[in-house]
Amino acid sequence: MYLQFDPPIIAHRGASGYAPENTIVAFDKAKQLGINWVEFDVMLASCKTPFIFHDETLDRTTNLTGEIAPYDYSSLSKLDAGSWFNSIYKDVRIPAFKETMDWLCRVGMSANIEIKPLQGQDMETAEVIWQSAKDYIKPHHPTFLFSSFSIDSLRTLRTMTPDALIGLLIHDWMPDWKKICDDLSCVSVHLFDEIVTLDRATAIKSTGRKLLCYTVNDPDRAKELYSWGVDAVFSDFPDKILSSLS
Ligand code: G3P
Ligand code: MG
Repeated sequence: MYLQFDPPIIAHRGASGYAPENTIVAFDKAKQLGINWVEFDVMLASCKTPFIFHDETLDRTTNLTGEIAPYDYSSLSKLDAGSWFNSIYKDVRIPAFKETMDWLCRVGMSANIEIKPLQGQDMETAEVIWQSAKDYIKPHHPTFLFSSFSIDSLRTLRTMTPDALIGLLIHDWMPDWKKICDDLSCVSVHLFDEIVTLDRATAIKSTGRKLLCYTVNDPDRAKELYSWGVDAVFSDFPDKILSSLS
């Protein structure tokens, strides 16, 4: 099977319950916990270098404040992106996308690459990410699955390649999900936990697509979702879900 989730857990922003999110330390922690997939968010610095980060501001996860948009990657790479989580992670850095892809290929971890464009950069972000990612998509490499809330980003990606594995990310239920998935040849649908119902899960699974669900930290909820056909859950505490499976 070309898209496999075994164990059926994706470490959300890495093992972000245990290490600063969206850093190599968090990805490595997921690996140590026996998880084979990580999810992370990718945006563009002002110099157009793609890097791994979730928010549009620096406040929550770095030692600076303010909008992220004016900064080039050289400046961002010098920030402390670890102390906010715990002082033992002082000076953990914001990784560049390519550095992350190199690391994933070296250790053999697959990834859900979430395209997270800053305002007005939907097409450009997808273009740059694909240009940086395409050489990593090879037989015997880990699997890379692209997703985004931005339909414009996904459409741009699909225009550039028929081959990329694309998943549609849905936070508020979209009754036209199937048409969008058909148009973009999506292999998966990624739903916000609070909008997943048995009926919706059954409808998505009946189209042959993988169904992923975020963010699930409660093992009992994960069990219910698996019983509805969910293929994998994104979790900040992937080991808790993993140990409940055995
Ligand atoms: O890709 C699943 C999940 O990460 C989407 O929401 O805000 O955590 O990027 P967010
Ligand atoms: Mg994300």
